[in-house]
Amino acid sequence: MNHSLTIGDITVKYPIIQGGMGVGISKAGLASATANNGGIGVISAAGLGMFDQASDPYKAMASALKKEINKARTLTNGVIGVNIMTAMQNFSSMVKTAFDANIDMLFVGSGLPLDLPAHQPVNNKTKLIPIVSSFRAAKLIVKKWWSRYKKAPDALVLEGPKAGGHLGFKHEEIDHPDYQLEPLLKTMVNNIGSLETFVGKPIPIIAAGGIYTGQDVRRMLALGASGVQMGSRFVTTDECDASETFKRAYIDSVPEDIGIIESPVGLPGRAIINPFLKQVAMGEKHPVHCPFDCIHTCEKENAPYCISLALENARKGRLKNGFAFAGTNAHRASEIISVKALFESLKREWHDVKNEIV
Ligand SMILES: Cc1cc2nc3c(=O)[nH]c(=O)nc-3n(C[C@H](O)[C@H](O)[C@H](O)COP(=O)(O)O)c2cc1C
Repeated sequence: MNHSLTIGDITVKYPIIQGGMGVGISKAGLASATANNGGIGVISAAGLGMFDQASDPYKAMASALKKEINKARTLTNGVIGVNIMTAMQNFSSMVKTAFDANIDMLFVGSGLPLDLPAHQPVNNKTKLIPIVSSFRAAKLIVKKWWSRYKKAPDALVLEGPKAGGHLGFKHEEIDHPDYQLEPLLKTMVNNIGSLETFVGKPIPIIAAGGIYTGQDVRRMLALGASGVQMGSRFVTTDECDASETFKRAYIDSVPEDIGIIESPVGLPGRAIINPFLKQVAMGEKHPVHCPFDCIHTCEKENAPYCISLALENARKGRLKNGFAFAGTNAHRASEIISVKALFESLKREWHDVKNEIV
């Protein structure tokens, strides 16, 4: 895997970004291990500090994010990013916290971050990387940022529908051939040049969703991506910040267990369908009191459960009261290995044509 990844003035040895995974799945532990092995490690801001039972939960969340970034900095000199959902009620204060900490990269998804550059202090060097599901969304962001702020994204993550977590697709698009990562990537690669000319700088494309082996990485680069973002494969590592039970849920799963849910935040999501989610689907879960008011798209009155609590339970291994988000390939994990071993495996697979998935 002799391909580095350059985003602005930052270059990492391998073209691999470990995707931000809330709630508490990718924190300083996983992010720093990834950065130490030559990739970009990403802390997810989702849910951080939310369960600290502080009198002001939003302040607690910002302070937990600051603490996590500082912790990662003590564990690595490598490149660290933070992932923040635009739909978070406290988006502004979380983004400010990341900028104040001079985080290397800011990944922003779950909605179009049309005003993100407005939050960036003058002289701050954080790379701004929106997560999108189409060239159309990318174009909208680039045009709006340029007309309002004379700024352009430093890179774009293009996430297809095989990803774990919330998806930026309608239900009917998820299995539709036109909306799979490869055709979306081809359209993006064929058209990004016009936007790069418009803003006068390169906009590297990072492919995400269903990328699992070194061969997959190689295929994405051959299609024109500059790098990949992977989530599920990083879950079954020693350094992943989830409980062992959460990681075991991946190892014990079979392909048929991984499916689509309707998340209370108003988006489809990909997860391991367990008894908790089956009860939800059968209408056996009932609206709860909203403890945090964390996501502004959440339909609190009608939500059958609190997604933050369900994901926090899952992280801790209490899967009876929660569930694990997971990409289509999550069932392929057979053991928990170190992040170092994961990188070695990806490098081997890169050269192993037998592993190729067509
Ligand atoms: C457990 C889990 C939690 C995730 N949480 C987030 C999140 O909080 N924000 C986000 O933008 N993406 C989230 N994602 C998506 C990942 O960052 C990544 O893009 C995705 O997992 C890539 O697909 P893959 O799992 O097939 O590799 C999550 C994915 C998983 C598996």
